[in-house]
Amino acid sequence: MLVLAIETSCDETSAAVLRTAAQERGHAPEVLFVPPALVPEPAAAPDVLSNIVLSQDEVHAPYGGVVPELASRQHIKTIAVIVSEGLSRAGVALEKIDLYAVTQGPGLIGSLLIGLSFAKGLAYYHKKPLVGVDHLEAHLEACFLENPGIEYPVLGLLVSGGHTALYLMEEPLSYKLLGRTRDDAAGEALDKIAKFLGLGYPGGPVIEKLGRGGDPKAFPFAVPRTKDRSLDFSFSGLKTAALKHIREHGIVKDDARLPDFLASFEEVVARTLVDNLRRAADAVQPRSLVLCGGVARNTRLRARFQDFARDAGLPAYIPSPKLCTDNAAMVGALALKKFARRPDPATDLDLDAYARA
Ligand code: KG4
Ligand code: ZN
Repeated sequence: MLVLAIETSCDETSAAVLRTAAQERGHAPEVLFVPPALVPEPAAAPDVLSNIVLSQDEVHAPYGGVVPELASRQHIKTIAVIVSEGLSRAGVALEKIDLYAVTQGPGLIGSLLIGLSFAKGLAYYHKKPLVGVDHLEAHLEACFLENPGIEYPVLGLLVSGGHTALYLMEEPLSYKLLGRTRDDAAGEALDKIAKFLGLGYPGGPVIEKLGRGGDPKAFPFAVPRTKDRSLDFSFSGLKTAALKHIREHGIVKDDARLPDFLASFEEVVARTLVDNLRRAADAVQPRSLVLCGGVARNTRLRARFQDFARDAGLPAYIPSPKLCTDNAAMVGALALKKFARRPDPATDLDLDAYARA
């Protein structure tokens, strides 16, 4: 079975082609008339034949953050070429696609609608099923693409530019939200501090690069805690503390203290995330841990996450960097699992985009 997946929830236009492992073994999945409860989970991860990601970073960089209207216009310009590039890199003709997959939300509504409309058009024309996918669940699914045997229950930490949340996955396709940010997402906090210092967009990678070699203890940041000790996150206090340090110490773009400052800020963000993960793990006793989302590319966060997993004696998984940031392969992987569970051969043209989780 071949799936063409499209992701346009924010500022990346992405298309991927995946092939289920079943087809490779020579038997097409005969799942169409099996009652959902009897359909087995796919035993092996699908093969990612292509995963094309076109970032709009250059378009948004002058503004220090994503400008929604510009993002939509850019998706309109690039979607057709990215989809055909995805197909040609995979060596697959459009007529061979068995299933279409697309991100429905959450995200920027204009951006989402472009991917969704494009996918609907293709599925309708080719009379093939279309599966809508949640962007956050797709980020979590990215971990299973490279490690299909991750043991449940899984505790997932999702850290991106728009979201920061903890999920308990007791079984495949089940996502229980344990806590989420009450204000800024972790990536957003990094992006805003970078913007304030005039370092460019996106902020996470720039902070990582410029903070390399800096002393993470040089600036005293305290790990924030929510008063009710819930598993929610809050990054707005940290952002304010960072701005205060910047003003008090007169830190500027070319400052000799910049690496120390950035390393300290990055360190406290990583510690804040892992602190909540630790409390969640105590509460739900998972069998494995996953870290995902764009900020999961960060070396410091990856190290703190792995330190904790080692202490807790739990297997821990992080997608390879390309699968952490927004990409269509994770959307296709989740769609294949959803389709295996509820195989509906009809094209679903009623799918709606949604901006919020
Ligand atoms: O998951 P993603 O691609 O998009 C959303 O769904 O939001 O995440 C984008 C976020 C941005 O805030 C960006 O600054 C951050 O991921 N990011 C990083 C790194 N690479 C991307 N943050 C820290 N270190 C990185 N290396
Ligand atoms: Zn994302």
